Amino acid sequence: MNPKCKIAVFASGSGSNFAAIEEACRSGTLNAEIVLMVTNKPEAYVVKRAAQAGIQVAAFPSSEYATRAAYEKDILKKLQEVGAEWLVLAGYMRLIGETLLTAYPSRIVNIHPSLLPSFPGKDAIEQAVEHGVKVTGVTVHLVDAGMDTGPILAQRAVDVIPDNVEKTAEAIHAVEHDLYKDTLNRLFHA
Ligand code: GRF
Repeated sequence: MNPKCKIAVFASGSGSNFAAIEEACRSGTLNAEIVLMVTNKPEAYVVKRAAQAGIQVAAFPSSEYATRAAYEKDILKKLQEVGAEWLVLAGYMRLIGETLLTAYPSRIVNIHPSLLPSFPGKDAIEQAVEHGVKVTGVTVHLVDAGMDTGPILAQRAVDVIPDNVEKTAEAIHAVEHDLYKDTLNRLFHA
Protein backbone atom coordinates (compact mmCIF):
# COMPACT_ATOMS: atom_id res chain seq x y z
CA MET A 1 0.00 0.00 0.00
CA ASN A 2 1.31 3.46 -0.91
CA PRO A 3 1.85 5.90 1.95
CA LYS A 4 -1.05 8.30 2.49
CA CYS A 5 -0.79 11.68 0.75
CA LYS A 6 -1.08 14.69 3.01
CA ILE A 7 -3.66 17.06 1.59
CA ALA A 8 -5.05 20.48 2.48
CA VAL A 9 -8.65 21.09 1.40
CA PHE A 10 -9.59 24.70 0.54
CA ALA A 11 -13.29 25.62 0.84
CA SER A 12 -15.50 28.68 1.28
CA GLY A 13 -19.02 27.29 1.40
CA SER A 14 -21.23 24.45 2.55
CA GLY A 15 -18.50 21.85 2.19
CA SER A 16 -20.34 18.82 0.82
CA ASN A 17 -17.23 17.99 -1.23
CA PHE A 18 -15.05 18.46 1.84
CA ALA A 19 -17.33 16.03 3.73
CA ALA A 20 -17.17 13.46 0.92
CA ILE A 21 -13.35 13.66 0.80
CA GLU A 22 -13.10 13.47 4.58
CA GLU A 23 -15.36 10.42 4.68
CA ALA A 24 -13.37 8.75 1.89
CA CYS A 25 -10.07 9.37 3.75
CA ARG A 26 -11.55 7.99 6.96
CA SER A 27 -12.98 4.86 5.34
CA GLY A 28 -9.81 4.28 3.28
CA THR A 29 -11.47 4.59 -0.16
CA LEU A 30 -9.20 7.61 -0.70
CA ASN A 31 -5.61 6.93 0.26
CA ALA A 32 -4.95 10.37 1.76
CA GLU A 33 -5.04 12.29 5.01
CA ILE A 34 -6.52 15.78 5.37
CA VAL A 35 -3.93 17.70 7.40
CA LEU A 36 -5.68 21.08 7.13
CA MET A 37 -8.87 22.76 5.97
CA VAL A 38 -8.17 26.28 4.69
CA THR A 39 -10.95 28.83 4.34
CA ASN A 40 -11.29 32.53 3.59
CA LYS A 41 -14.75 32.48 5.24
CA PRO A 42 -14.61 31.74 8.98
CA GLU A 43 -18.44 31.72 9.10
CA ALA A 44 -18.85 29.08 6.35
CA TYR A 45 -20.64 25.83 7.17
CA VAL A 46 -17.58 23.85 6.07
CA VAL A 47 -15.80 25.12 9.21
CA LYS A 48 -18.39 23.33 11.38
CA ARG A 49 -18.02 20.18 9.33
CA ALA A 50 -14.22 20.24 9.73
CA ALA A 51 -14.43 20.86 13.47
CA GLN A 52 -16.87 17.97 13.86
CA ALA A 53 -14.52 15.70 11.93
CA GLY A 54 -11.58 16.78 14.09
CA ILE A 55 -9.73 18.39 11.17
CA GLN A 56 -7.57 21.42 11.89
CA VAL A 57 -9.04 24.62 10.41
CA ALA A 58 -7.02 27.64 9.28
CA ALA A 59 -9.17 30.68 8.50
CA PHE A 60 -7.61 33.54 6.55
CA PRO A 61 -10.19 36.30 5.92
CA SER A 62 -8.84 37.82 2.71
CA SER A 63 -10.19 41.29 3.61
CA GLU A 64 -7.50 41.48 6.30
CA TYR A 65 -4.72 41.44 3.70
CA ALA A 66 -3.54 44.27 1.47
CA THR A 67 -2.32 41.98 -1.32
CA ARG A 68 -2.92 38.46 -2.61
CA ALA A 69 0.80 37.74 -2.12
CA ALA A 70 0.67 38.64 1.59
CA TYR A 71 -2.50 36.56 2.01
CA GLU A 72 -1.00 33.51 0.30
CA LYS A 73 2.32 33.86 2.13
CA ASP A 74 0.51 33.33 5.44
CA ILE A 75 -1.40 30.36 4.02
CA LEU A 76 1.83 28.86 2.67
CA LYS A 77 3.53 29.12 6.05
CA LYS A 78 0.69 27.11 7.62
CA LEU A 79 0.70 24.56 4.78
CA GLN A 80 4.42 23.99 5.26
CA GLU A 81 3.98 23.68 9.02
CA VAL A 82 1.50 20.81 8.58
CA GLY A 83 3.41 19.23 5.68
CA ALA A 84 0.67 19.50 3.03
CA GLU A 85 1.75 17.85 -0.25
CA TRP A 86 -1.32 18.60 -2.41
CA LEU A 87 -3.93 21.38 -2.35
CA VAL A 88 -7.48 20.27 -3.10
CA LEU A 89 -9.94 23.09 -3.87
CA ALA A 90 -13.56 22.27 -3.04
CA GLY A 91 -15.74 25.34 -3.51
CA TYR A 92 -12.92 27.77 -2.70
CA MET A 93 -14.11 31.11 -4.04
CA ARG A 94 -10.75 32.77 -4.73
CA LEU A 95 -8.27 32.60 -7.56
CA ILE A 96 -4.94 31.00 -6.70
CA GLY A 97 -1.99 33.38 -7.09
CA GLU A 98 1.67 33.14 -7.93
CA THR A 99 2.82 32.31 -4.38
CA LEU A 100 0.84 29.07 -4.07
CA LEU A 101 1.21 28.13 -7.75
CA THR A 102 5.00 28.34 -7.41
CA ALA A 103 5.08 26.42 -4.13
CA TYR A 104 2.78 23.64 -5.46
CA PRO A 105 3.52 23.27 -9.20
CA SER A 106 0.92 20.92 -10.78
CA ARG A 107 -0.18 19.96 -7.28
CA ILE A 108 -3.33 22.06 -6.95
CA VAL A 109 -6.61 20.48 -8.05
CA ASN A 110 -10.08 21.97 -8.48
CA ILE A 111 -13.58 20.68 -9.14
CA HIS A 112 -16.10 22.66 -11.18
CA PRO A 113 -19.81 21.96 -11.77
CA SER A 114 -19.86 22.08 -15.59
CA LEU A 115 -18.17 20.48 -18.57
CA LEU A 116 -15.37 23.02 -18.95
CA PRO A 117 -14.64 25.06 -20.99
CA SER A 118 -18.42 25.65 -20.93
CA PHE A 119 -19.76 27.76 -18.07
CA PRO A 120 -16.61 28.70 -16.11
CA GLY A 121 -16.84 30.96 -13.06
CA LYS A 122 -19.68 31.44 -10.63
CA ASP A 123 -23.20 29.99 -10.92
CA ALA A 124 -22.23 27.37 -13.49
CA ILE A 125 -25.28 25.19 -12.77
CA GLU A 126 -27.70 28.14 -13.00
CA GLN A 127 -26.07 29.24 -16.25
CA ALA A 128 -26.43 25.76 -17.78
CA VAL A 129 -30.12 25.48 -16.82
CA GLU A 130 -30.88 29.02 -18.03
CA HIS A 131 -29.06 28.40 -21.29
CA GLY A 132 -31.25 25.35 -21.91
CA VAL A 133 -28.39 22.91 -22.55
CA LYS A 134 -29.48 19.28 -22.25
CA VAL A 135 -26.26 17.95 -20.76
CA THR A 136 -23.88 19.57 -18.30
CA GLY A 137 -21.53 17.85 -15.87
CA VAL A 138 -18.50 17.95 -13.65
CA THR A 139 -14.83 18.68 -14.37
CA VAL A 140 -11.77 17.99 -12.22
CA HIS A 141 -8.70 19.92 -13.36
CA LEU A 142 -5.28 21.11 -12.34
CA VAL A 143 -5.21 24.76 -11.30
CA ASP A 144 -3.37 27.51 -13.15
CA ALA A 145 -3.59 31.29 -12.81
CA GLY A 146 -6.87 31.52 -14.75
CA MET A 147 -10.46 31.00 -13.70
CA ASP A 148 -11.27 27.28 -14.21
CA THR A 149 -8.75 27.02 -17.05
CA GLY A 150 -6.08 24.45 -16.06
CA PRO A 151 -5.47 21.05 -17.71
CA ILE A 152 -8.50 18.75 -17.45
CA LEU A 153 -8.02 15.51 -15.51
CA ALA A 154 -11.54 14.03 -15.60
CA GLN A 155 -15.07 14.88 -16.70
CA ARG A 156 -18.45 13.25 -16.27
CA ALA A 157 -21.70 14.24 -17.96
CA VAL A 158 -24.94 14.90 -16.06
CA ASP A 159 -28.37 15.39 -17.68
CA VAL A 160 -29.92 18.79 -17.02
CA ILE A 161 -33.37 18.64 -15.45
CA PRO A 162 -35.17 21.34 -17.48
CA ASP A 163 -35.97 24.53 -15.57
CA ASN A 164 -34.91 22.94 -12.31
CA VAL A 165 -31.66 24.28 -10.83
CA GLU A 166 -32.17 22.53 -7.50
CA LYS A 167 -32.63 19.01 -8.90
CA THR A 168 -29.85 19.51 -11.47
CA ALA A 169 -27.55 20.69 -8.67
CA GLU A 170 -28.40 17.63 -6.59
CA ALA A 171 -27.46 15.33 -9.47
CA ILE A 172 -24.24 17.26 -10.09
CA HIS A 173 -23.17 17.17 -6.44
CA ALA A 174 -23.68 13.41 -6.25
CA VAL A 175 -21.40 12.97 -9.29
CA GLU A 176 -18.85 15.43 -7.87
CA HIS A 177 -18.40 13.49 -4.66
CA ASP A 178 -17.67 10.28 -6.54
CA LEU A 179 -15.58 11.72 -9.37
CA TYR A 180 -13.35 13.82 -7.08
CA LYS A 181 -12.45 10.83 -4.91
CA ASP A 182 -11.65 8.60 -7.93
CA THR A 183 -9.63 11.28 -9.72
CA LEU A 184 -7.61 12.18 -6.60
CA ASN A 185 -6.80 8.52 -5.97
CA ARG A 186 -5.47 8.16 -9.53
CA LEU A 187 -3.54 11.42 -9.32
CA PHE A 188 -1.91 10.85 -5.96
CA HIS A 189 -0.72 7.37 -6.80
CA ALA A 190 0.06 7.72 -10.52
C1 GRF B 1 -19.19 22.56 -6.03
O1 GRF B 1 -20.24 22.54 -6.97
C2 GRF B 1 -17.85 22.67 -6.72
O2 GRF B 1 -17.83 22.05 -7.96
C3 GRF B 1 -17.69 24.16 -6.87
O3 GRF B 1 -18.22 24.70 -5.69
C4 GRF B 1 -19.23 23.83 -5.18
C5 GRF B 1 -18.90 23.56 -3.74
O4 GRF B 1 -19.92 22.82 -3.11
N1 GRF B 1 -16.31 24.54 -7.12
P1 GRF B 1 -19.71 22.27 -1.63
O5 GRF B 1 -19.38 23.47 -0.74
O6 GRF B 1 -18.59 21.29 -1.67
O7 GRF B 1 -21.01 21.64 -1.25
